[in-house]
Amino acid sequence: MTGRREFLRNTSLGVGAMLTWKCLFFAAPSTNTESRIEVLVDEPLGVISPNLYGHFAENLGGVIYDGIWVGKNSSIPNIDGIRKDLIDQMRRIKAPVVRFPGGCFADSYDWRDGVGPSEKRPRRTNFWEGVEPKDGAASHQYDPNQFGTNEFVHFCKLIDSQPYIAANLRSLPAQEFDHWVEYCNSPAGSTTLADLRASTGYPEPFGVRYWGVGNESWGCGGNFTAPEYAAEFCRFAAWVPRYGMELSLVASGPNDDNWDWTRGFLEEILRKGPGRLRSIYGLALHYYAWNLSRGRTRDWNEGKGDALKFDAVDWYELLRQGEVIESLIEGHWQVMGEFDREHRIKLVVDEWGPWYRPGSEATAGNILEQAPTLRDAVFSAMTLDIFNRHPEKIGMANCAQLINCLNSLYLAHEDNFCVTPVGHVFEMYAVHQSGQALRTIFSSPQIRYDRDGKQATFSGLSGSASVHDKEMTLTVVNPHISEAKESEIAIRGATVRTASATVLTHSDIHAHNTFAQREVVVPKTQTVAAQRATATFIFPAASVTKMTLTLG
Ligand code: AHR
Repeated sequence: MTGRREFLRNTSLGVGAMLTWKCLFFAAPSTNTESRIEVLVDEPLGVISPNLYGHFAENLGGVIYDGIWVGKNSSIPNIDGIRKDLIDQMRRIKAPVVRFPGGCFADSYDWRDGVGPSEKRPRRTNFWEGVEPKDGAASHQYDPNQFGTNEFVHFCKLIDSQPYIAANLRSLPAQEFDHWVEYCNSPAGSTTLADLRASTGYPEPFGVRYWGVGNESWGCGGNFTAPEYAAEFCRFAAWVPRYGMELSLVASGPNDDNWDWTRGFLEEILRKGPGRLRSIYGLALHYYAWNLSRGRTRDWNEGKGDALKFDAVDWYELLRQGEVIESLIEGHWQVMGEFDREHRIKLVVDEWGPWYRPGSEATAGNILEQAPTLRDAVFSAMTLDIFNRHPEKIGMANCAQLINCLNSLYLAHEDNFCVTPVGHVFEMYAVHQSGQALRTIFSSPQIRYDRDGKQATFSGLSGSASVHDKEMTLTVVNPHISEAKESEIAIRGATVRTASATVLTHSDIHAHNTFAQREVVVPKTQTVAAQRATATFIFPAASVTKMTLTLG
């Protein structure tokens, strides 16, 4: 690791190429200057796919009904039945892609229930009914099917996103998958299903490119072994109608460090013939940070922590769990390379986020809903930075889930709506989309904390950088709950004309937004005076910072 002195020497050697500016931007309770960030403009890592900033909306709890769909006749402001506040916000964050209808729900869903005249659509039992409260206004036990394929694709169109549909592999035959593709993509007037689409107002094909072939097929998606699932995948992927467009099929992948799933699946695919690999666009990876038991248990229910009531150790433990995703990306990528040497298949991290125990719901009875705090904003920023650092490996990522659920960007109930701290992070980070990722070197002292009598550590400052033409974005997370970090910043290979910083933080690490107090945690932007002297910035404790730099 470079020492502070060596760093200073290096920076002064690079004079012509080095920008320096000074900013003592935020008053800080305590600081140290042991941290350094270098952005290497001449070391591009690859283009950051906009789809790394994707979303996930499952027909579960209050996500679809109440969250997204309020109905065309609702007094809640809406566009064609879809909540207008949500549409406005999703346009702001440049939402690139939305996954629907699940999750586990997907493998119980018959897409035909959600098409045709809305008044004729059947009511069904929702996959999640077993965990739904049996009474109360927020019960979503039964599915009215008012938000189906048309409404989902229309929602995507309104927010300028791409639809990503997860198909049912567990309880419908492969032919129904073909028919769903046909319903979505067959040309106007060409088939009976195209006519059905047209009869409800959508003559033109939807052009859905992204299709998930099952979900968590080792679990709720059918309890398959990896080779069994590979055989099912091949059956589904063998001859899907294309209508002249490329389809990107996503195979169900692991949700942890189960390298055997990745290996077993690809081994079997390859055994069926090398050509079969070509049918796979991506391998899904799910990762939830949930175990805050500090090593006491691996029990799914007992191990979870609380979204709002947590101490300093819980803060770091959650972030430590979140950090693991980087090793999963690297590990599964390596295994994938054993079978797919050219790395054509990408990782699709189509579910990620923290998962807490019930109890913090903004709307009582909304299953899996939790209140995102500043901790979740820091977690989310750290995760997005990790994705940015692996642009060649990740084809898509979808935060779980968009609204009224786990790591939600938004909370809504009836005519109440608010943006969570996680939503603000997505808006801050949107500019990374399609940027050229740049190698960054963060040298920052580790954070030490007491984990039930034993010392534990967590990384100091971390982040990522990208550039579009002359505009560079550097995003940085300071996970320390009480110490601001003064850091030297060196942009190697360019000079800087202007700089500004947008910071999301709060003096209370539990801070969060509610329907009553919607702006407790909001980002603040200030211009940073650029000088040719030193390059320092004080990153407040428990913060997410975006620096926008115009390069000369
Ligand atoms: O996001 C909630 C659930 O978590 C999804 O339905 C499932 O895929 C995962 O286990």
